[in-house]
Amino acid sequence: MKVNNAEIVISAVSQKQYPNDRLPEIALAGRSNVGKSSFINRLIHRKNLARTSSKPGKTQTLNFYKINEFFYFVDVPGYGYAKVSKAERAKWGVMMEEYFETRDTLKAVILITDVRHKPTGDDSNMYQFLKHFDLPVIVIATKLDKITKGKRASYLKRTRDTLDMVIEDPVIPFSSETGEGKDEAWSTIRKYL
Ligand code: GTP
Ligand code: MG
Repeated sequence: MKVNNAEIVISAVSQKQYPNDRLPEIALAGRSNVGKSSFINRLIHRKNLARTSSKPGKTQTLNFYKINEFFYFVDVPGYGYAKVSKAERAKWGVMMEEYFETRDTLKAVILITDVRHKPTGDDSNMYQFLKHFDLPVIVIATKLDKITKGKRASYLKRTRDTLDMVIEDPVIPFSSETGEGKDEAWSTIRKYL
């Protein structure tokens, strides 16, 4: 997709702040620091519209990015960062459940995993949580630039097997660094819009 326009519309912490123009939405999910915001930036050709950081916990709110007046990418805070207080974790849970359980304009979720690592228990829980709501999940195995070509096939299979993915959901190898996988990501996203 050629992106002519991308803008942040709102950083929301609760339902009443979500946009109400009924455009379709594609949300991101994944561990803290895995590369969710970087994925958005790469797809829309913007260096840092979605703010990224080498430190986990950069994204703290639900950030709605309107793309070409056509749909939203919704960037979300990551999970699994150890140095987060119980109270913050609870707040995160409420915010995420409220969004994923009730949002009827949500068409699919992009679950980002790090291709180098076996998905964690948190990743599996997130995948199963999304399937519980019958949401299509596109798994993006990112940071592909960090592994050798010889390891790709087995690491991608490990991702699919560990998450116990349904056959309809794809795993797409990707790198925000090199842009590899971008066309496949876009063509898959388009199917859900
Ligand atoms: P939170 O907002 O904290 O949940 O993190 P996030 O998932 O949005 O991660 P973010 O996009 O901020 O990226 C975290 C770090 O990983 C940054 O230092 C990025 O530059 C780096 N990174 C992200 N994607 C890639 C990739 O494909 N390859 C490499 N080499 N680095 C990446
Ligand atoms: Mg982020």
